[in-house]
Amino acid sequence: MAVDLKFKTLQYLDRNESQYGPSPKCYDFLKNVTIDELSCYTREFTKGVKSSLSRRISEDFNIDERQVILSYGSEDLLKQIIHYYLDRKEKILIPKEAWWYYKKVAYEVGGFNVEYPMYIGKENGITTYKYDVDRMIEIYDRERPRIVLIASPNNPTGNMISDKDLKRFLDACRGALVMIDEAYWGFGSKDNAYVKPYIDEFPNLVICRTFSKYYALAGLRIGYAFAGKNLEELINFSIRYLGFNRLSEQLAEIAMDDDDYYTKVTNMMQEDKEYFYKEFSKLEGFTPYKSYTNFMLVDMPLSIRKGLDKFLKERNLLIKFLNEEAFKTEARITLGTREQNYYLMESIKEFLGAK
Ligand SMILES: Cc1ncc(COP(=O)(O)O)c(C=O)c1O
Repeated sequence: MAVDLKFKTLQYLDRNESQYGPSPKCYDFLKNVTIDELSCYTREFTKGVKSSLSRRISEDFNIDERQVILSYGSEDLLKQIIHYYLDRKEKILIPKEAWWYYKKVAYEVGGFNVEYPMYIGKENGITTYKYDVDRMIEIYDRERPRIVLIASPNNPTGNMISDKDLKRFLDACRGALVMIDEAYWGFGSKDNAYVKPYIDEFPNLVICRTFSKYYALAGLRIGYAFAGKNLEELINFSIRYLGFNRLSEQLAEIAMDDDDYYTKVTNMMQEDKEYFYKEFSKLEGFTPYKSYTNFMLVDMPLSIRKGLDKFLKERNLLIKFLNEEAFKTEARITLGTREQNYYLMESIKEFLGAK
């Protein structure tokens, strides 16, 4: 039977990309790009900084510009940090319920993973994964990894670590390099107040951020990190003397300036998350997980996975059916526009005959 398609092309709700796009001011800037910005290297180094973006971030956070690292997205940060610090046969401690690339990166340099598990609990009546700091500290003490990785919010679970738990964990593992991946910063909390005190207090800490998710600039490949005072070698290693992509750097600053636009989008996404919690909870065998991100983990009956995947693809909707050790029955749904989200929900109900 021919399907009456609402969307003529495939809607990619599987890669945690923004479906709203960046601030319209980014497009305005691109219309007036000069030949100089395309053909010449940045001249910012003559002012003693890496770029105007690193200076801007340094000023916003009141952290020395030298301690601000720029990168091609946070994937690049993860790679650089682990490739630089992890020697052969050394261990990295990562969450068991993690982004697939965490599981792979240590092996690129002959190291290996040790995993810490999360547990499932409730938050305001909604099911959520939680960091188990006692277990994490116990595993850290036993394994003594060179590098420890925390993602907050975490992909694909969508949960955050509480400030109290984070502080306790950082205190317990001062002997390791600790990397906090905050790729999904902004969707659940826009708190920045802890960044400077933590970077000052924990000299082996790196906090990584990106413009890919909240700022919807994944195609530009730009991210940044704050590095603690012991990480001078990493800071030097990561410097690109000829600069980064000049357009990316400027677009990142334009995005940072348009708080109104991003707040509006995040508020709409928050309403849609509430809609998803409510609607998925009504469906038998479905459990939505609390999300502090631009996606939602949803557990669903194993028996319907294949059929639902096919049904949604026929409607030009692509969501990610996870198939890894920690996730056999869950799908990760990237939050779309209101129209995409409602159509997805309606399609799932239609498939289940629940309409
Ligand atoms: C947890 C996490 N960290 C980092 C990244 C990398 O993002 P980017 O390299 O675009 O900054 C992703 C991308 O999906 C992610 O899910």
